Amino acid sequence: MKSVKVPLNQLNDTRIRLMDMGIMNMEYKIKAEEKFGYVPINNDIEGYEIVDIDLEPIKQHPKSFAELLKDELSEDEIETLRTSFDTIGEIVILEIPDNLEDKKQIIGDAALEFTKRRSVFMKKSAIKGTTRVRDLEFLSGIDDSVTIHKEHGARLKLDVREMYFSPRLATERKRVMESVNDGEKILDMFCGIGPFPIVIARNKNVDITAVDINESAIRYLKENIKMNKLKGSIETYTGDIAVVSNAFKTKFDRIIMNLPGLAYTFLDLAVDLIEEDGIINYYEFSDSYDQGIKRLKNACLKKNKKVEIINTRKVKSTSPGEWHMAIDGKVTSE
Ligand SMILES: C[S@@+](CC[C@H](N)C(=O)[O-])C[C@H]1O[C@@H](n2cnc3c(N)ncnc32)[C@H](O)[C@@H]1O
Repeated sequence: MKSVKVPLNQLNDTRIRLMDMGIMNMEYKIKAEEKFGYVPINNDIEGYEIVDIDLEPIKQHPKSFAELLKDELSEDEIETLRTSFDTIGEIVILEIPDNLEDKKQIIGDAALEFTKRRSVFMKKSAIKGTTRVRDLEFLSGIDDSVTIHKEHGARLKLDVREMYFSPRLATERKRVMESVNDGEKILDMFCGIGPFPIVIARNKNVDITAVDINESAIRYLKENIKMNKLKGSIETYTGDIAVVSNAFKTKFDRIIMNLPGLAYTFLDLAVDLIEEDGIINYYEFSDSYDQGIKRLKNACLKKNKKVEIINTRKVKSTSPGEWHMAIDGKVTSE
């Protein structure tokens, strides 16, 4: 392979220069040896030592998403679509702006070819209603909305048409799991198909109570419990947490409250159900942490308790300036 040979300390600058000049051959990998580096090139170039050397070809996707759509859409339009991809198991969910609605089939087919997944759906509404599900329109591949998503070694089966799930919370779930201690009694008030419980119970020896009002989500959670090798245990309840919680015989060392639009309305209940020194993993949509911290503090104050805020995080952006926020509070007696 025709390549430019340069001292190792010049390799990166040379790579950038050759790339800018359009001379670098992008189909082969750069090679770095002890003293020299080699950048593959398409054309001769003066001022460099040119050698012939074996370089490893880069395994390329047959075609990039941009390449597949370059005759149909502008670069900006392609970039917007690319950042809207959510991949859940074998399913790709796309957000297609209104002005590209008439090209949805071409876009869906390109997404199917590019991602090599089984099915492509497009978002037809925002996430809505009590069960936090959005309308989807089938676009390409096989019209099957059931899939198994893999996350941190967990296998999570779900039906994307019937229940909420976001792969964008994977880092948050791992973070919460890592903060859990063996032996904790945990309540997930709004568990969905159980990504928090499954990821935690796979890694920690804990007792988890998982509640959701969506009967289908709990049905899938029960399957997920069987499909994963768990160190801990998960007990499931179907129903409104405000009602189901009347049956609880115990308090909890940790309560997970991932219903960010409405979790604040269940804070009084969470404070009633939390053990002394227990942690509430509270979530809400907001532009700052202040509102959530104030809500946690007020709920504790009403019950003569206080809360120490031990961590805050921006989990993901929901709209410009607004975030899905995480606030972890440790609740103690006054
Ligand atoms: C944003 S989703 C989160 C699901 C899950 N924790 C996750 O991270 O994928 C919120 C869930 O709360 C459930 N939900 C809404 N209101 C509820 C209530 N009053 N009691 C129990 N579950 C409820 C919905 O059905 C939905 O599955």
